[in-house]
Amino acid sequence: MLAHTIKIKDEEFFELKDIIYKASAITFAESKKYLLENRLSKRLQELNFDSFKEYIYYLKYDINRVKEMDTLLNLVTINETYFLRERPQMDHLMKNTIPAILAKGKKSIRIWSAACSTGEEPYSLAILLKENALSARANYEIIGTDINTEVVDVAKKGVYRGMSFRGVPPNFQAAYFNPSALTFEVKDEFKQRVRFQVANLISPTLPAQMGKFDVIFCRNVLIYFDLDGKKKVLDMFYNCLNTPGYLYLGHSESTLKIENKFTLQNFGTGVFHIKE
Ligand SMILES: C[S@@+](CC[C@H](N)C(=O)[O-])C[C@H]1O[C@@H](n2cnc3c(N)ncnc32)[C@H](O)[C@@H]1O
Repeated sequence: MLAHTIKIKDEEFFELKDIIYKASAITFAESKKYLLENRLSKRLQELNFDSFKEYIYYLKYDINRVKEMDTLLNLVTINETYFLRERPQMDHLMKNTIPAILAKGKKSIRIWSAACSTGEEPYSLAILLKENALSARANYEIIGTDINTEVVDVAKKGVYRGMSFRGVPPNFQAAYFNPSALTFEVKDEFKQRVRFQVANLISPTLPAQMGKFDVIFCRNVLIYFDLDGKKKVLDMFYNCLNTPGYLYLGHSESTLKIENKFTLQNFGTGVFHIKE
């Protein structure tokens, strides 16, 4: 069935936006109304609703509301990602941060790729550890998490197509993936290094669930949050890091206007945050 677009009224938009915000910290500007219409119209029709009012009622009161919230978040999150994205930060981790942690005699290093979407980021880190001859120098645990249950399933499978490889060097696929007709599967040695789970960055139980890390990557996620959401997540990351602990945000994500306890450091082509 080809879905037609169901228009969202102003009051419905504000109510739905609020539901999404409370569940995830993701904010939608009024100019993004069309995005909710485009992404959710098919779902409304699957449920035999012809207005957003009915869908909001369903989200609030139906017996299936908890499950539907997952479906809603799967539909509205932006999951764009690819291998070796924003590579200078990954190179900085390999050439500076990990050697600095190793120099302190640490033999066990935990890395969290928070909001990793389909998994290209944590797999890239596992691959670069090997490329930089760091794999054998410590026990690494890389954990990839995301709120979207569907992308986490894709990440666990580790099977990718062309778009995930835009911008990788020519030998990358051949060296680290098993090719099939149209897809490339991450080799087992990297799959074994990375563990995936569903996790909401604003869940109060998350720090207890995740434990402590030496490094956190959380890139291209906080751009969707408001200042309050960003601050809560930054504080949570601070608490989840060992001392010293290292946080890498996306290239374009500044913490300038957010009160936080991290020390900001410049590495030429980018910045990172340290818990000292
Ligand atoms: C654009 S992707 C970024 C992927 C990867 N970090 C990168 O930079 O390529 C943003 C991801 O953040 C996830 N996300 C959004 N809000 C979240 C939340 N509250 N908790 C966990 N993940 C969230 C989305 O599901 C999406 O997969």
